[in-house]
Amino acid sequence: PRPHVRVLRGPLLSFDADPGDGDTPAPGSVRHLEDGALWLVDGQIHAVADYAALAPHLPSDIEVVDYSGKLMLPGFIDSHVHYSQLDIMASYGRQLLDWLNDYTFPEECRFAERAHAEAVTDAFLDEMLRVGTTTAQVFCSSHPVSVDAFFTACRRRGLRMLAGKVLMDRHAPEALRDDTLGGIRDTERLIGDWHGRGRLGYSLTPRFAPTSTRAQLDATGALLRNDPSLWLQTHLAENTGELDWVAELFPESRDYLEVYERSGLVGPRSTFAHGIHLDQEMRGRLAARGANLAFCPSSNLFLGSGLFDRLAAREAGLAISYASDVGGGTDLSGLATLKAAYQVGQLRGQPLTAWQGFYGLTLGNARALSLDERIGRFAPGMEADLVVLDPAATPLMARRTARSRSLAEMLFAMMMLGDDRTVAETWAAGRPVHRRG
Ligand code: GUN
Ligand code: ZN
Repeated sequence: PRPHVRVLRGPLLSFDADPGDGDTPAPGSVRHLEDGALWLVDGQIHAVADYAALAPHLPSDIEVVDYSGKLMLPGFIDSHVHYSQLDIMASYGRQLLDWLNDYTFPEECRFAERAHAEAVTDAFLDEMLRVGTTTAQVFCSSHPVSVDAFFTACRRRGLRMLAGKVLMDRHAPEALRDDTLGGIRDTERLIGDWHGRGRLGYSLTPRFAPTSTRAQLDATGALLRNDPSLWLQTHLAENTGELDWVAELFPESRDYLEVYERSGLVGPRSTFAHGIHLDQEMRGRLAARGANLAFCPSSNLFLGSGLFDRLAAREAGLAISYASDVGGGTDLSGLATLKAAYQVGQLRGQPLTAWQGFYGLTLGNARALSLDERIGRFAPGMEADLVVLDPAATPLMARRTARSRSLAEMLFAMMMLGDDRTVAETWAAGRPVHRRG
């Protein structure tokens, strides 16, 4: 068959390295082309260049899509989100443990039914693409069918996604509770069916320490030891009530992190959501193993969990990723996550620059998730996932961005004022998957 070829022309922005926390990005970290071009062939980026430099090399019959006035970026990445919680977003007035019991667990019971899991998956993926997120690391429910439904739909849409079946064998309603070994066998079956199939990867998903026995955590660690190409996602030190409970349940561990360390769950492909209530020594232990903390600012504000200390993590050399944590989070949009991260940062005296924010949503998250050889920046051989932002998406945005004197100012205005309307188009694997209505 003929190769599938497109050229996308217009302003583009991509990061080649961490820009740092300064007002101006570190030298060589930012690639910004005012009139750039992405040459896409069969789902991958074949070339990135100024349009004028590329034009003489293009086949004469090639289709050129014009995005002048817009801004192309690599597709956004969400390092921690629960698709099974889409329909309980914005449930009023609880902190973590009550919120789990009152809203989350009852909702997740519905995912025993395949038709329900399929319907919510479709709504979730539509919403993700509407806000420009092309890759996420996703909690399903405890039901294997919730994972089958999710991965089936991602494969049909050509999306790069990580996901896993929630493991919990205690302190949960019976309809969600694993038999310890049964949950591990289900996980092994799902790994066999989905891990490394096309653009999909399996993430081992023990929910958090209180809902797993030591036996379940140990068995999960054994899976990770047997196959280090697997990912792992869980929660860590989100809420003070949770901390007290963990101390009570695992008296032999000197702190929360050690509960996971003892079972071999802390590695270079492990993502720990939240990590608010940690000391510097614990951050150092996470950094030494190459793990990352998922900063979930809209969730932390919504559930009243606390203010994440971003710069302490960076000082410890610990990788940070950015995440919505829907349904604890109030917004799927990466732009909204950056806005909340900026606000949390302001309350800590650690404001987030737009450079650091957009780096985080793209290459930063790709690196934290060990996906940076495939996604996260515009370069030859990378997969063609991208978002087309419209700085003049609304009359208000048009007024504001017209006054921006620099790219940094325009990016910052989009991260504070942007939402799904800011996303004109989303592409995955070289094909359009969302166009704003
Ligand atoms: N800790 C354990 N489970 C959850 C969950 O579903 N959401 C959040 N935010 N924290 C958790
Ligand atoms: Zn979560």
